[in-house]
Amino acid sequence: MCREGPFRTKLVWFDFILDYYVSHTYLLYTVAFILNLPLMENEGTPAKLWGGRFQEGVSKISETISESISFDKVIYKQDIRASIAHARMLSRQKIVADDVIDKIVKGLGQIEGEIDQGKMNFDPALEDIHTHIEKRLVEIIGEEGKFLHTGRSRNDQVAVDTHLFLKENIVEQKELMIALLERLLQLAKDNAGTIWAGYTHTQIAQPVLLSHYLMSYFWMFQRDYNLLDFSLAETDTSPLGAAAMAGANYPIDREFVAKELGFSKVYNNSMDAVSTRDYQLSYHFFTVRLYLHISRMCEDFILYNSTEFSYISMGDSVTTGSSIMPQKKNPDIAELLRGKTGRVSGNMNALLVNLKGLPLTYNRDLQEDKIYLFDTVRQSALGILGMKEIISNVTFHPEKVVKNLRKGFAQATEIADYLVSDYKVPFRVAHEMSGKAVVFCEKEGKYLDELTQTDIESIWGAEYSLPEGMLKLENCIDRKQGTGCTSNKSVQEQFAKAEKILEAMKTEI
Ligand code: ARG
Repeated sequence: MCREGPFRTKLVWFDFILDYYVSHTYLLYTVAFILNLPLMENEGTPAKLWGGRFQEGVSKISETISESISFDKVIYKQDIRASIAHARMLSRQKIVADDVIDKIVKGLGQIEGEIDQGKMNFDPALEDIHTHIEKRLVEIIGEEGKFLHTGRSRNDQVAVDTHLFLKENIVEQKELMIALLERLLQLAKDNAGTIWAGYTHTQIAQPVLLSHYLMSYFWMFQRDYNLLDFSLAETDTSPLGAAAMAGANYPIDREFVAKELGFSKVYNNSMDAVSTRDYQLSYHFFTVRLYLHISRMCEDFILYNSTEFSYISMGDSVTTGSSIMPQKKNPDIAELLRGKTGRVSGNMNALLVNLKGLPLTYNRDLQEDKIYLFDTVRQSALGILGMKEIISNVTFHPEKVVKNLRKGFAQATEIADYLVSDYKVPFRVAHEMSGKAVVFCEKEGKYLDELTQTDIESIWGAEYSLPEGMLKLENCIDRKQGTGCTSNKSVQEQFAKAEKILEAMKTEI
């Protein structure tokens, strides 16, 4: 480790004596001493919370690596809330005198106001938000402020702050998710009966209802909501009282603090409490999977919005222009959401690698977790809101879809299935017969639904015919009546189920 303090100190004093005798520049040092100016780099460094056993300060580079105030200042409210709950517990348990705790609680309230108003001067030398607040507390109320840290450590302190922060955000995001699901369900209902194209291999596969297509995303996002809810259950656990990792030597009441902070339970093991980041991992996984779904829907919309597809038009509120090509209306927001999928999976991966093989219990590596978490929390909110904005500003063009369905011979499977059920032809044979009809249409420049009886006889023989209207796209769709299939009836059933689930979600939060 690079500690240049003492070496420099010696040099400075050596200089001092030398100068005294040689060039009288000692005057400069005298002035500096009287004005209390730092004579060397480390002298200006404010006292650390853990300074007792150290004689020198850390080097500048170590300080830069060490600091987290540049990113953990966002959890100042959680830190103050947790400190107040901890302080109240200390007085309730007669660990610290009531009048001292009163001053501490008042002081913490004042600090919150100061930070709210941007009055706190954040200094990397003070490492993190916990140190800033505690140091300011001592400045405001004096030495008694130093009682606050009784029976706790920054290890359980940072853990409780992060739990509080994440919990608040998850609760908000559950509402955002419900709003997205409601919008999607409404869009599907508004477009009930509209014909859409189902694809496999980016090739026309079979006709479906647009509402069926939209509901497929509803169910993906609904499962993501369940993951979010699961991550809430894990985050709803208080680590405070674990102290450094073994617990505290005072008659602390962890359950009281947990209740004060709105946690439904406490960690069962102090070593686990300070070292686990499982609750964050669960939340990361929610975000990553949500973004996988978002990116797929965005990709569909980007394709469908292209001139080649022209299935949809994305609204002005989610598209941007080109600086050179005046005709352009680019689906940038959908592209950005698709791109953010890389970012959030990167954040999850960063935490996974950080945690891999980390010995119990707290290690400073864990400080980095907040960089990934804070970013992912923000990106999740943007993803949910952005997706809702995109689907709220889309116009569908089913005419173009219908054209492509016919062009892509989307009814070929219908023919095969009909030959199986009505002519008792084995499916493999029926498949081939239908394929022959496609080849015929390609040669003759016809759609499958334009085949005449003469055409059919020339392809398969005189004993075959297809019922009138059988290949109409809406009929193809409505034959698929099973649960979760694309008929109008089945999609209506999906709506009913979705409504019920949404109602339950809304009453639960
Ligand atoms: N800033 C630290 C973090 O985020 C707080 C905990 C410091 N604990 C310690 N043992 N140095 O992890």
